[in-house]
Amino acid sequence: RTVSLIGAPTDVGASVRGAGMGPDALRVAGLIEALRSHRLDVMDRGNLSGPPNPWKAPEGGARHLDEVVAWNRAVYGAVDQALTDGHVPLLMGGDHCLAIGSISAVARHCRATGKSLRVVWLDAHTDVNTEAISPSGNLHGMPVACLLGHGPKPLVGWSGEPAAVAPDQIDFIGIRSVDADEKQAIRQLGLSVYDMRHIDEHGMRHTMTELLADVDDNTHLHVSFDLDCLDPMEAPGVGTGVRGGPTYREMQLCMEMIADTGCMGSLDVVEINPALDVRNRTAELAVDFIQSLFGASTLAR
Ligand code: ARG
Ligand code: MN
Ligand code: MN
Ligand code: MN
Repeated sequence: RTVSLIGAPTDVGASVRGAGMGPDALRVAGLIEALRSHRLDVMDRGNLSGPPNPWKAPEGGARHLDEVVAWNRAVYGAVDQALTDGHVPLLMGGDHCLAIGSISAVARHCRATGKSLRVVWLDAHTDVNTEAISPSGNLHGMPVACLLGHGPKPLVGWSGEPAAVAPDQIDFIGIRSVDADEKQAIRQLGLSVYDMRHIDEHGMRHTMTELLADVDDNTHLHVSFDLDCLDPMEAPGVGTGVRGGPTYREMQLCMEMIADTGCMGSLDVVEINPALDVRNRTAELAVDFIQSLFGASTLAR
């Protein structure tokens, strides 16, 4: 398999500056070498370019909408190209707003190839706000809404359908921070949210078994990995950390069980903020988990 690395160095959707340094933090942490050591071919396509962060107040409930559209357009193009080449796109963010372009391209590709798409959203947050309900206006809190067909108009419909994914195609893991109106949206949409309480009570093993139960040979699994899913004790380099996340061991098991399906076809790694990190620890942690996602295991060769 060939992995296409796509860097999207921007924080236009975030609440604090710094996530734009994520792609290089991952390269410095040895991402390319790590993937190659697992006999994967890696093509680093370098970094995309887009508008700078104007650091303005929200307008109409959304901040930096034009800039977020521009960055996502670039992401969409690069992910689409990688999939056309038969590669596994690995989007290195950047903040989580970039999942709009990434997953829209994946959804379009799945429709064209007859694959059934499933999205695994690893995050402390559900990111299902819209411009009408977001308390912050930050677009990294809205990508799921946009993909489901509900966000700001210019960010909806990119896959060629009104919604890139249906509610039953996405599962959330690690959730422990949901805004008041977001809770209502989750209920109305019928989203499948495995929150921290579910993981506490049933364990990661049971949770992932349940989540992956209907994955089959025709499934394309897209993993959208927000590093703030982890506990901030493990991953301090994030802009919107929330205490009480999965442990390192639990997250490793989650990644290994995804890898065991053999169905992961695309990946986002987002929200690493080197400006808040401790000696690049969060990017190094991400590299650990990415290796597991691509099938690294302690004993298998
Ligand atoms: N729910 C909050 C908001 O909408 C935080 C979102 C954090 N999202 C993220 N991708 N880190 O502003
Ligand atoms: Mn998050
Ligand atoms: Mn259960
Ligand atoms: Mn997120």
